[in-house]
Amino acid sequence: MAKTFFIETWGCQMNDLDTQRLSGSLKLRGYRRVEDENGADLILLNTCSIREKSEQKVFSRLGELREVKRANGGVKIGVCGCVAQQEGERILHRAPWVDFVMGPGNVGNLDMILDEGARLALEFPEHRQYDYLSIDRSSPTKAWVTIMEGCNKNCTFCIVPTTRGREVSRPFDDIVAESRAAVAGGRVEIELLGQTVNAYRCPVSGRDFGALLAAVATLDGVARLRFMTSHPAEVNESMIGAMRDHANISRYLHLPVQSGSSKILRRMKRLYTREKYVQTIARIREAVPEIHFSTDFIVGFPGESEEDFQESLSLIEEVRYGSLFAFKYSPRPGTPALRIGPPVDDEIASERMSRLFDLHERIKRELLESYRGRVLPVLYEGPSRHDPAMLAGRTEDNYVVNFFGNPATPVGSILGVRIDQAQHHTLRGEAIA
Ligand code: SAH
Ligand code: F3S
Repeated sequence: MAKTFFIETWGCQMNDLDTQRLSGSLKLRGYRRVEDENGADLILLNTCSIREKSEQKVFSRLGELREVKRANGGVKIGVCGCVAQQEGERILHRAPWVDFVMGPGNVGNLDMILDEGARLALEFPEHRQYDYLSIDRSSPTKAWVTIMEGCNKNCTFCIVPTTRGREVSRPFDDIVAESRAAVAGGRVEIELLGQTVNAYRCPVSGRDFGALLAAVATLDGVARLRFMTSHPAEVNESMIGAMRDHANISRYLHLPVQSGSSKILRRMKRLYTREKYVQTIARIREAVPEIHFSTDFIVGFPGESEEDFQESLSLIEEVRYGSLFAFKYSPRPGTPALRIGPPVDDEIASERMSRLFDLHERIKRELLESYRGRVLPVLYEGPSRHDPAMLAGRTEDNYVVNFFGNPATPVGSILGVRIDQAQHHTLRGEAIA
């Protein structure tokens, strides 16, 4: 009987993709994926350490898995992802029933780890194994394509440079080949991934992110091209030019700002001021007038005063983000922000969070309402989960649209959908002929 594996994923899209890669290589070894950890031959936890008590969460989950191992002595348990990198050998000491710990730099080496029975794999190999043909992609219409791993920025609050290592860009031609293969497999939507995608530079030819965008956008069959995450200080004319020149590049850009206060941005080492960020938004809007932005904020960074926080609120008013993520500052082990001072009092931070979300709710409502009566291009993804009589897809700015239309429409088509209702987070409408 085929061996089975169970894998649990926390965190960002990068981790989701790592899970697809791990899963793909296990399937090549003849494993079958199961949704129940009891009875599986291999259990992998793909962990995240970006915020909060992520280490404790992993250790408490490992406590549960100890019981699973007691019941089934043959099961192998592996801890992957950023907590694996951060805690390393400590995991083997505290949870000796764990068989191996592997960091994000070793996703391509799972085969080797299993073959050799290695217990720790934490280095960042110069040459990363990257077998894109075996990726176990879960969406029939969309493919994530890594263009770089790691991060060379040193934002003072962030653990990523420690857990994912220095920036390494993949060769341009490999990325184009992977995208072409994904489209040939029906994935008409490509999303390029990296911690700072727009710092991309081909290690072979030196070509930059704008050149890469243009090359992938012009591949036959790419209906939509997205990318995550851009760093505001790395936005340049080449990137903006590619966005302007290729209509299939998403008119929706995630541009994390973290704070509206230049004082806090300096303490965060974000490498831009509020004014510079606003100018960058203006430059992009000038080239691509229909664009929408989304962003990340951190609330309660050490030293954030009420005035600093007000500047975050006024920036939200100024940019009118289509979507927004906000996180309470969470001190991370070994990060420079620990030396700046204590986080803002938790009650104050919570209260700021809710004011920020209230403001954004209002802006988002207005935005969604403004879609009513308009015909928007929607990428059809399949039957609606909401109502089986309806179809579902996404607008360019990534809102889910449930709509009436012909169920024989091939998945991956772009349809014009007239919006007749704006619900809380989604839109409703009808496909027009
Ligand atoms: N370049 C990556 C950054 C990953 S972290 C990206 O933007 O996807 C994602 C978000 O988590 C950051 O933009 C930031 O808003 C938030 N974040 C990172 N470290 C944090 C911390 N210590 N406390 C709270 N939020 C944090
Ligand atoms: Fe983190 Fe800043 Fe890099 S948020 S991932 S150090 S750009």
